[in-house]
Parts: sequence; C-alpha cells; structure tokens
Amino acid sequence: MRARSKEVDAKAIAHHYDVSNEFYALFLDPLMVYTCAYYRDPDGKLEQAQRDKLDLVCRKLELEAGETLLDIGCGWGSLAIWAAQHYGVRAHGVTLSKAQADYATGRIRREGLEDRCRVEYRDYRDLPPDARFDKIAAVGVIEHVGIPNYPAFFGGVRRMLRDGGLYLNHGIVHEFHWKATSQTEFLYRHVFPNGDLAGLSETLTEIERAGFEIVDVEGLRLHYARTCRQWVERLRERADEARALAGERTYRTWLLYLTCSAVAFAESSIGLYQVLTRKQHDPVASRAPHTREHLYGRAFL
Ligand SMILES: C[S@@+](CC[C@H](N)C(=O)[O-])C[C@H]1O[C@@H](n2cnc3c(N)ncnc32)[C@H](O)[C@@H]1O
Repeated sequence: MRARSKEVDAKAIAHHYDVSNEFYALFLDPLMVYTCAYYRDPDGKLEQAQRDKLDLVCRKLELEAGETLLDIGCGWGSLAIWAAQHYGVRAHGVTLSKAQADYATGRIRREGLEDRCRVEYRDYRDLPPDARFDKIAAVGVIEHVGIPNYPAFFGGVRRMLRDGGLYLNHGIVHEFHWKATSQTEFLYRHVFPNGDLAGLSETLTEIERAGFEIVDVEGLRLHYARTCRQWVERLRERADEARALAGERTYRTWLLYLTCSAVAFAESSIGLYQVLTRKQHDPVASRAPHTREHLYGRAFL
C-alpha cells in the first residue's frame, strides 16, 4: 500500500466510525474499548477483560501520578480516562474521528476529569512539533498508518517521547503465511479502507531503526479471537437495534467482518502483539523491571 494523504486517511476513518457511537455501543463494553481485551480468565466476560486490558497497558507503561501520557488514536477515550482516573496522570488523547472525540469529551466532563484528561479531534501528524510526553501508547492504530509511513510514525513517536520514556505499540500483524484473499479484499473495500498489516518482525525492525529498545513483546492472538466472538454475540443479540440505527447492509457487513476476524485470529492468519519499547538514551541509566511481576497484581479492578 502506498503512502496516503491526511485527507484520504480522514475519509477512511470517517467511513468506519461515522456509523455512529450508538451503533458501536451495541456491541462494545461500557467503556467503549475497540481493541483486543485481556482475558485473565479464559472464560471471562468482555467487560472485565477490557478493564484488565486497560490496566495492563497502564502497568506496562509504569504510569506514575503527575506523568504525561499521549494516547495516539484514543478511540472513545477509554485508556486516557482510565489512566487519569486510576494512575493520576495527565492524559491527552487524539483521534481522527470527531464523533469519538465528542463522546470522550462528554465522558471526561461527566467524570470530573477535565483538569487532567482531554481528547482532541486531531491527526497525530498535526500534534505540535514541540509536544513532549513521559509515556506514549498507540492501541490499535498501526493498522491505519500504512507500512511506508512506519519510519515517519515511529520517528514522530520517538521525537515526542522524553529520553528513557516508554512507548507501547498494540497492533494486529499478519503471520508469514498471510496473503491477499477475497476476505482481505472485502475488508479493504467495505470496512477499513486504509487498513494495512505488516508482519511482527517487520514492525520490530522499524521500531528498532527508529531508535527504540524493545523491552517486552506479548502475543495476545487468542484474546482477540475471543474478543471478536463476544462482539459478534453482542451485536447479534441487538440485531434489530443495529438494523434500525445503521441499516441492514452495515449490520451484515460488520457482522461478517467481526466473524471473519474471529476466525482469522483463531486460525492464526493474523496475530496481535503488544510491543513495549523504551526511547534509547543512556542504556546504563535505564531502570528496567527485572521480571513481569509488577504486571499481574490487582489494583483497581
Ligand atoms: C481501532 S481504533 C482503537 C481505539 C482505541 N485505541 C481503543 O483501544 O479502543 C483506531 C483509532 O485510531 C484512530 N486513528 C487512526 N488514524 C489516526 C490518525 N492519523 N490520527 C489520529 N488518530 C487516528 C482512529 O480515529 C481510532 O480512534
């Protein structure tokens, strides 16, 4: 896929998200997380698994009160709000969907978090050149970036991160036996007009080239298979409302896309990885946890 203009990307995102907040609310969890959940209990419920995912991301980033967090592609604001609420950070989210930004801003106001959390309708490429953050997350965004744009994307993240700061990249990858099929054609044409998946090794190479140390890599493929299955079940249960809100064609398109995604994750033609990285500066001064113990206690759940 070739590099694209901001206008083309904005149109592609609008195509996907202007289906309406109400439509997504029919099948997402109450916090409106639109990426892979984290099932500590393999038979667990979506609501708990999404809270666990948000918390896992915060722990991986070792968030501390008073730090600044940038959430690139923040969706309906779930991570920025969670991090401000439970970790006391100053969170800034950007999304290319106006409907998402409006929804998130309303929720931030209702939760009384305006002093430390804000979500903007803005392309991440339009953040001010001097913007700096202690920590950065991009959850479910790399799929929209386009492979030719990886150097500019990871380079931009690095520039905005303070020396030694952590960046978490959570995204879908294709495995090496991935190939273009009628399924991928359907997805690009009707669901994600700007979707573009790289392999994990390609992604890691670009991250390293941009000047990051890779700290941790975790595969969550089966978690995404279950997430998609639960989204499908929930959407089917609300079929009449979905049809009324978005029409028969969109209802069926989304049902098919979520079902295909569940199958693709289950049979490993695509995968999902959280890659935790650190902006290299002085390797001797970096204090990295020696184990993963800090990730698995229960604090806010
Ligand atoms: C799959 S959603 C994930 C949302 C959220 N991170 C979550 O986990 O629920 C992808 C998000 O990336 C955002 N996005 C895609 N391209 C973007 C861009 N160029 N600038 C800002 N946001 C972008 C979309 O608007 C959307 O919010």
